[in-house]
Parts: sequence; structure tokens; C-alpha cells
Amino acid sequence: MAHLLSTSYTLKLSPSRNSSFVHLNQGLTKFSSFLTLKSSNFPSKRLVQPGQFPERSCIVCATTLSLNHEAKARPGAGSNEVHNDASKPKRVMVIGGDGYCGWATALHLSNKNYKVAIVDNLVRRLFDHQLGIDSLTPIASIHSRVRRWKSLTGKTIELYIGDICDFEFLAETFKSFEPDAVVHFGEQRSAPYSMIDRSRAVFTQQNNVIGTLNVLFAIKEFSKECHLVKLGTMGEYGTPNIDIEEGYITITHNGRTDTLPYPKQASSFYHLSKVHDSHNIAFTCKAWGIRATDLNQGVVYGLRTDETEMHEELHNRFDYDGIFGTALNRFCVQAAVGHPLTVYGKGGQTRGYLDIRDTVQCVELAIANPAQPGEFRVFNQFTEQFSVRELAALVTRAGEKLGLKVETASVPNPRVEAEEHYYNAKHTKLVELGLNPHLLSDSLLDSLLNFAIEYKDRVDKKQIMPNVSWRKIGVKPRTIVA
Ligand SMILES: NC(=O)c1ccc[n+]([C@@H]2O[C@H](COP(=O)([O-])OP(=O)(O)OC[C@H]3O[C@@H](n4cnc5c(N)ncnc54)[C@H](O)[C@@H]3O)[C@@H](O)[C@H]2O)c1
Repeated sequence: MAHLLSTSYTLKLSPSRNSSFVHLNQGLTKFSSFLTLKSSNFPSKRLVQPGQFPERSCIVCATTLSLNHEAKARPGAGSNEVHNDASKPKRVMVIGGDGYCGWATALHLSNKNYKVAIVDNLVRRLFDHQLGIDSLTPIASIHSRVRRWKSLTGKTIELYIGDICDFEFLAETFKSFEPDAVVHFGEQRSAPYSMIDRSRAVFTQQNNVIGTLNVLFAIKEFSKECHLVKLGTMGEYGTPNIDIEEGYITITHNGRTDTLPYPKQASSFYHLSKVHDSHNIAFTCKAWGIRATDLNQGVVYGLRTDETEMHEELHNRFDYDGIFGTALNRFCVQAAVGHPLTVYGKGGQTRGYLDIRDTVQCVELAIANPAQPGEFRVFNQFTEQFSVRELAALVTRAGEKLGLKVETASVPNPRVEAEEHYYNAKHTKLVELGLNPHLLSDSLLDSLLNFAIEYKDRVDKKQIMPNVSWRKIGVKPRTIVA
């Protein structure tokens, strides 16, 4: 079956007519539908129109799901509240809360008695439909997820379905939820996706840069005190031949000294969108006094957190394909199904990595210790660094212990990147705030491998090899045959 990458599925964001908000429990979901995706997993009718790629004529009609109105009550009332410290943010908006990092974080913060609202336009699920890929783990619809959470814990997560590139929608969510902190995960986050063709490159930069700009304007306009916690990436720095500092470097040049933003050398249109975001955030901190923390995150691995473990409807997504799968997760699935581990080129590419349990911990630490007004704070969010070759060796050893025959293949590198290089990135600031890292251990690898083995019947081996080339990107919309 052929799955079209772009030309026949367009996310056409429809203009809302009147109000941006419709309560689901009023039984009305205002998505006009040019084409309804036929997947039982897909949570609601979507706007996709033949012939174009995602464009924003205006708005994804917003849906809010308020399971009860308790969430509007200010902190202090109700059994969920334990925060007595007035300086602690109480109401946290998690943008991108239906995604891999965002879902785990939303549950974690809710469990820690923050009042949480998820804002998401579910576009990540649409990418799966477009590309013919799927999470290794079956994932419930976002509505089922938050209902299950409520039924298990009694805690409400508010839900705002819509596109943050639509300022009208975003403004309404800010006015309705009144966040003390916004955690912004809501971006197109795959470097290969951004390198498929011109339309994906443009979409990635529009989606990410405009979305973040809108968040900055919404904070300025409606929640001046709100702390922005923005997910950046270690990939913004590239791989310089000197140590990577946390955001800033002090340079002496021609006898004068200054502390300046650390140089950025992004290596995909996705990573470049993150660099643009960082500059926009830094500027608005200076110009408008916004308080912001940029979390330059490493590659995240793992699946389970205390909260996602509580019920299968809370399980997180697990991507293993050549476009969205990240290195270690991908290797575990490859080992489980007997596919050689795909090391790109020489495999000396070294990056920072962290367990998803540390992603949620870091975000919690950042919001519990907010930046000052006007401060643009940068934390490097990872716990260990590995080369791709080292990861492959670790997975091979763990797989063999479980009786798997694991082979490694060097495949031509689809990316333009150094395959052997110096890499030493600082990452002390989150530890100073109290991060207690979960380092990559044999037991974690065992559990990831066992998990991949459990779901191996769901693996589509055709999705494993990389099929997006940095050098071959062109202007023509590309169709990938599955
Ligand atoms: N996963 C990693 O290894 C990793 C590493 C470094 C940085 N990050 C960053 O962390 C963030 C989250 O990554 P992830 O792996 O959870 O990604 P993801 O794709 O699983 O989740 C992103 C979520 O944001 C939503 N979204 C995207 N654009 C939106 C928009 N315009 N309006 C509303 N919602 C929108 C998507 O539907 C999705 O649910 C991203 O910003 C990513 O760049 C991730």
C-alpha cells in the first residue's frame, strides 16, 4: 500500500466561525472535514485536504475537554493541592502534551499536584498517517488517556485541542487556563522529517518558529509573570571542536571580554528552527522581561515512567522508524526483530542522551525553580554522552544476554554530519537544582529489549531503514512508498 508523504494529505486548518472553544461534553467537536482519517486510533475528525501540504489559513477549531470544573479552581482547594510555597507555579500548560515527552511530563506534573492543561493539535498522529508509520506501542486517543488518568487518580488534566500557530486559539487557552508556567514541547521534532522535501522544511520552520512566537506574544499579553520552559535541543550547538557550555560562553577578543550566547551550528531545518526559537526567546526576555528557560535536551530514550505504567491506556508512544525513531529506541527494536542495528557511517557521532524519566524530572525542576523576569536561562538537559557505535555495542551485549543474535551494519549516512569528532558538553545546572539521573544500565536495556520483543509483531521492518537524504532534498513534494 502506498502511503503519501505530502501531496494528498494536507492539514488544512479551518477558520473557526464563532467561538474557538467547544466543550466536548456538550457533544460537539468543530472540525470541518475535507477528509476523515479512517483510523480507530485517531481521536477525532481531522482536516486534511488533497493537494496541499499543511498550511494555516487560520484555525484548527479548538476543543476543550474539561472533565469537571475543578480545574478552574485556584490551587489550595481540593485534595490534589500540596503546594504551600507561593513562589511555586501551580498551573502548568503543557503544549505538545499528547507527544512522547509531553505526555509523560503532563502525567508526572499532574501526579505531583500541579494543575495541568494539555494543548495539542494532534499533528504528530497525523504524521503517522501520512507516512504510514506507527508507534511500536498502541496508544490510546488523547481523550481516552485523560479520562483514564482521571478515573485512576481523581486528577483532572484539562485538554485544549488546537494549533498554537493560530493565535486566536492560543489566546483563548491562555485566558481560560491562566498558566503560571508553560512547558512548550509542541513542535515538529524530527530532523529527517524536516529534510524530506521543501514543503516539510517550510512546514517545520513555520510550525516551530511561529508557534513559539505566538507563545511569547501570549505570555506578554495575558500572563506576564508566566515562566516559559521551552524544549530546545543539544543539536543547536552542533559538534564544535571545543567544550560546549550551557548556553553562554565567555570570550576574550582583541583584549575585550564578554559573555555571549554559545555559537549555534544546526544541521537540519528542524535544528535550525530551534535556533531561531532560542533567538526569539532571548530577544523577548530582554525586550519584554519574559522569564524563560531553554532546555537544550539530548536524545531521549526509554518508555516507562511511574505514571504511564499505571494502565495500558496511559502507555506512551515508542517510535522506531527511520524518521521519528531516536537512536537507542530504534536499536532495541531492531535487535528484537533480528534486523541489523543501523549505524550511520562510521558511528563516531556522539550526542547527549537521557532517560524519559529524567526528562520529566528536569522539567519539574525547571518550573519549580523559575527563571527571573527578563532572564533567558539555558540548561543542557542530558545525563550521559555516547557515540552511536557505543550504543550499538551496549545493545548487542544486552541482546546477547537475552539470547538474541544481534548484528550491526554500517549504512551510508543519510545526514551531513561529522562521523568522528570531539564532544564534551557541560550539563551541571540541572544537577545543581537536584536532578537525580537514571543512567543507562543493563537492567534498563533489558527492559527496553523485553518490551520491544513483546511488541515485535507490530514492527513494520520496511520502516526501519533511513530513507531521507540530507543531500537529496528537493523542491518536489516527495512520496514515500511503504
Ligand atoms: N524526543 C527526543 O529525543 C527529543 C530530543 C531533544 C529535544 N526534543 C524536543 O522535545 C519536544 C517534544 O519532543 P517529542 O519527542 O515529545 O515530540 P512529539 O512529536 O512526540 O510531540 C510533539 C507534540 O507537539 C504537538 N504539536 C506539534 N506542533 C504543534 C502545534 N503547532 N500546535 C499544537 N501542538 C503541536 C504534536 O501533535 C505532538 O503531540 C520537541 O520540541 C523536541 O524538539 C525531543
